[in-house]
Amino acid sequence: MNAPVRIETLPRFASALKAIESLKPGEPLYLVYPDRFAAAARTFLTGFPGDVLYAVKANPHPIAIQHLWAAGIRHFDTASLGEIEIVKNLFPGAMCHFMAPVRLPGQAKAAFEKYDVTDYVVDGPSELDKLLAETGNPKKLRIFVRLVAQLGGALLEMSSKYGCSPEEAAKLLHKVKASGAAPCLTFHVGSQCLSPFSYAQAIEIAQRTINLSGVEIAALDIGGGFPTSYAGQEAPPYHWYFDMVKEALVTLGRPNLPVLCEPGRALAAQGLSLVTQVVMRRGDRLYINDGIYGSFDEQRFAGFDEDYPPTAVTLDKNKARILGGEKRPFRVYGPTCDSQDVLPRPQMLPDSIANGDFIIFDAMGAYTVSSRSSFNGYYPDSWAVIE
Ligand SMILES: Cc1ncc(COP(=O)(O)O)c(C=O)c1O
Repeated sequence: MNAPVRIETLPRFASALKAIESLKPGEPLYLVYPDRFAAAARTFLTGFPGDVLYAVKANPHPIAIQHLWAAGIRHFDTASLGEIEIVKNLFPGAMCHFMAPVRLPGQAKAAFEKYDVTDYVVDGPSELDKLLAETGNPKKLRIFVRLVAQLGGALLEMSSKYGCSPEEAAKLLHKVKASGAAPCLTFHVGSQCLSPFSYAQAIEIAQRTINLSGVEIAALDIGGGFPTSYAGQEAPPYHWYFDMVKEALVTLGRPNLPVLCEPGRALAAQGLSLVTQVVMRRGDRLYINDGIYGSFDEQRFAGFDEDYPPTAVTLDKNKARILGGEKRPFRVYGPTCDSQDVLPRPQMLPDSIANGDFIIFDAMGAYTVSSRSSFNGYYPDSWAVIE
């Protein structure tokens, strides 16, 4: 876990080029863009018709959480006691929601008793029994039954591990209601979901479940999945998603149903860029100082075929400038001894790129910092703010 780095202690620069010029970073350097975190938070807080929970797993670093808090985010989708503690240690007044359908024994008890967490997810009867036994006061709880929402609009599906069918969910809703807790529904359409229509389809599945069960729900959590723009892939505007959700609720005759969403990637991705350095060029191969065991971990996932937009920078008599000229594809290798430590797709970079030059990768705020490892003794952890 990271020490609670305070934003005020980080070096600040007017631009990425100024940061490179001044620091000449030999270690990977995360560039923090407060304005981009703020813009993402504003888009959701003003556009989404309900509570916006930041999915902490996307980037649990205090820097991300502090910026999103500063931008007005007060609710957090926390999937473990560890994530709850990160958030609560930074901001005791934050509202955490324990939205993992399976919890380690004792975690719900600690979350409920120590951190007043009252929202939980289940997708099966044994987890529901465990949750009720650990918390012991169902009247205080909202329990969200997680539905399968395998709709094909997302790059990374989120329904093969968790979620149940409408028939199973209907039974669970009855059990929740009988316990005295408030019955609710949730789903996750998959991460980097490029189809706003998937949310409308998933809301229809929720409606079918309500009809099957005859149980009225107290809230609907539409999960995460909102995409961000990567290299060559512009994400659809978020208002298309928000409008789709509002329309689906109206169509179902529930315009005022309390709704929640859990964006991770959409709130965190654009807030960070990463400066890497070319340690060695060998023909059309570049060996850089970060790789798939570090910030590029998500590149390993089958189905995730997005690239972080790369920009090459060189130092010219101590002045940093963007390297222009004709581009060609390069294989980009990370620093570890593992042959698998290579970006899965060639990166288009200027033909003249050389040892010691830098590559800035943008949109690196989500599922990068959270899943980096110290394999082989490399652990990217240098930071600067661009204001
Ligand atoms: C339950 C839950 N909510 C929210 C998220 C965040 O998803 P995304 O980053 O696609 O918005 C995830 C991602 O794994 C999740 O499992």
